[in-house]
Amino acid sequence: MSQEYILIHGKKSLRGSVEISGAKNAALPIIASTVLAEGKYELYNIPKVRDIEIMLNAIEELGLIVNKIGNKIEIENNGLKNGYVVSDIVKKTRASILLLGPLLSKTGDVRVVQPGGCPLGRRDIGFHIQGLSKMGAEIDNGSEYIIGKSERMNEINYEFPSKTVTGTENLLMAASLIEGKTILKNCAIEPEVGDLIDMLVKMGVEIEGKNTDTLIIKGKRELNSTNHKIIYDRIELGTYLILASMDNNDIVINAEGYDYIKSLLEILEKIGIFFINYKGKLVLYKKENPKPIRIETQPYPGFPTDLQAQIATLLTQIEGVSEIKENIFDNRFDYAKELNKMGANIEKLDNFNIKIKGKTDLKGAEIRGTDLRATASLVLAGLIAEGETIISNAYQLFRGYENMVGKLQDLGAEIEVIRR
Ligand code: EPU
Repeated sequence: MSQEYILIHGKKSLRGSVEISGAKNAALPIIASTVLAEGKYELYNIPKVRDIEIMLNAIEELGLIVNKIGNKIEIENNGLKNGYVVSDIVKKTRASILLLGPLLSKTGDVRVVQPGGCPLGRRDIGFHIQGLSKMGAEIDNGSEYIIGKSERMNEINYEFPSKTVTGTENLLMAASLIEGKTILKNCAIEPEVGDLIDMLVKMGVEIEGKNTDTLIIKGKRELNSTNHKIIYDRIELGTYLILASMDNNDIVINAEGYDYIKSLLEILEKIGIFFINYKGKLVLYKKENPKPIRIETQPYPGFPTDLQAQIATLLTQIEGVSEIKENIFDNRFDYAKELNKMGANIEKLDNFNIKIKGKTDLKGAEIRGTDLRATASLVLAGLIAEGETIISNAYQLFRGYENMVGKLQDLGAEIEVIRR
């Protein structure tokens, strides 16, 4: 089978305007939630990315009918065949784990493939399983499949030992079909969780506590289908803001999703890069002598782990020593050795800390995309590097960025996808 590569000739000045797509990480659980109730759904602003394709394959395997019209998706749920999502293709994403909770409540007999997705070190699902087990499910996670059975799912009062985005979403969806009052504490408050809450409320679930870490869910055995427009992708927005922060670029970005990216704007301001929201577009209006910085990733509203790799590329261009501490995942610096092949000076202190010594002139190289956001950071690096960069394992980028290559070409970048 041919492999996909991204080929970049760097050092072109980029000019123009970028439109932001819908949020992959909001669309995934929202698509999963359509298994909860029969009827017809129209979902808008769905990004055309491979992780979404796979989630759609997964619900088709369950018997739902999917019709794609651009960024709109129509889904028809005429009842599920069963609760089994076992096809190999689904192994590539975390789609399957997001179906575990809703399917347990809906069918009581579930078999889903173990979740894949980005290789970010340990990616536990223990809290998903703990919460669902408390609700009454019996879950066997010891094989190639997660096998779950439940006679009856019950309301619970559960505190997540630490914050988990998909864990919160999974238990929220499971609780949506449970009559009675489920209380979830220490929930993730990412905007994508809020978008799922909006969807579930339209389906008939009563949920109190949106945007707080305590959610009170009053489910119903019968929910209704609905229509929903997915929120914009704050991580895509952040990635283009970082690109717009780089020298010689003159890029304005559609400001949808701006409210969710304050933590990045604050960091950029500390570096000395200022954006304003001018008539719905984010525009760079001032650049001071850039300063190195120390960044720590945190759950929302802190600085997102999903922008950690991309900002590291920017920090290679700033005079002085910057530091990044990754607090969410324990193996999210794989991109550093790839950037070093291009001439960056990044020292990995341990699994959670790196030091970036700037400014380094980057040169094109043959590098490998290790995960989705790492690959985005390498694309940013390729765009500012002298000469030709070839990124292998380009599939990773297509998992989560809608048409990034096309969007960059429109800005004047010399970038293309090659297959060989
Ligand atoms: N964790 C546990 N036990 C659990 C669940 C999580 O220990 O049961 C730990 C994880 O190992 C990790 C931390 O908690 O150290 C946070 O993980 P979380 O569960 O929040 O991550 P996730 O739900 O698997 C989602 C996004 C990720 C994003 C993280 C953090 C989706 C589909 N994925 O993953 O997105 O990095 O939240 O914000 O929503 C990406 O888009 O590139 C991506 C990786």
